[in-house]
Amino acid sequence: MKNEKLKIGVFDSGLGGLTVVKALTGVIQNADIFYVADTKNAPYGEKTPEQILQYSLDITQYFIETHQIDALIVACNTATSFAIKKLRALYPNLIIIGTEPGVKPALEKTKTGKIGVLATPATLQGEKYQTLVKQLSKGKNVVLYEQACPGLVEQIERGAIACDTTKTLLNTWLSPMKKNNVDTIVLGCTHYPLVASIIESIMDGDITLIETGSAIANRLLALSQNIGHQNEGDLSLFIHHTDTINKESIDSIIADYNFLKSMST
Ligand code: DGL
Repeated sequence: MKNEKLKIGVFDSGLGGLTVVKALTGVIQNADIFYVADTKNAPYGEKTPEQILQYSLDITQYFIETHQIDALIVACNTATSFAIKKLRALYPNLIIIGTEPGVKPALEKTKTGKIGVLATPATLQGEKYQTLVKQLSKGKNVVLYEQACPGLVEQIERGAIACDTTKTLLNTWLSPMKKNNVDTIVLGCTHYPLVASIIESIMDGDITLIETGSAIANRLLALSQNIGHQNEGDLSLFIHHTDTINKESIDSIIADYNFLKSMST
């Protein structure tokens, strides 16, 4: 390990990746977490694969040059889909963990065999997701109800969560799932746990929601311990944002953090 304390770079297009950071704070100690909310380029899910790759490369380069990170968490399903392969090829000595829609745990949980998947348009169209679903559902008697949610990330970034527009959008998207007896929904975007309570109330509470933050945290713990990390001591979180960010929303997701000067892009 390069550093005495584990240095972790985590990024997303905005607030969503903080749901992953929250999971990290329950598991990881003796570490500095540097978080980039790339609000200048949000939402990633409505950008081209080339743009998403470039943002991911720029932020990773920044983490390496400025913070000499030991581990990178791509806390974004969309960026993972289009950049993880390239990042792993470019930085073979860095611990790199991506975020993938939790289709596997959903298959294990469902009783009705009807699973909903909510994700960004880019994630659902991406080859990575298509391959994952093909591999995992092969030979299984399951039906997947996939739903892209354009506009939802923008609502969440604005802090417009418990408002009529967000509820109407979710109602429309969830209604085929409700009609078809879906009992498990994959939250395939790290922003979506922030509207979990609305999803639960639309589905009448009778639903299992799958998010992957704690699996990522446990994987980071195992991989970092392999390179000598001692998981005992203080944890600090530094948040960078590339454009404006809703600070009240940050406070409601995570309690204890410091702002670093905005990263220049
Ligand atoms: N939170 C991200 C994800 O998990 C990206 C959302 C976006 O910017 O569209 O896909």
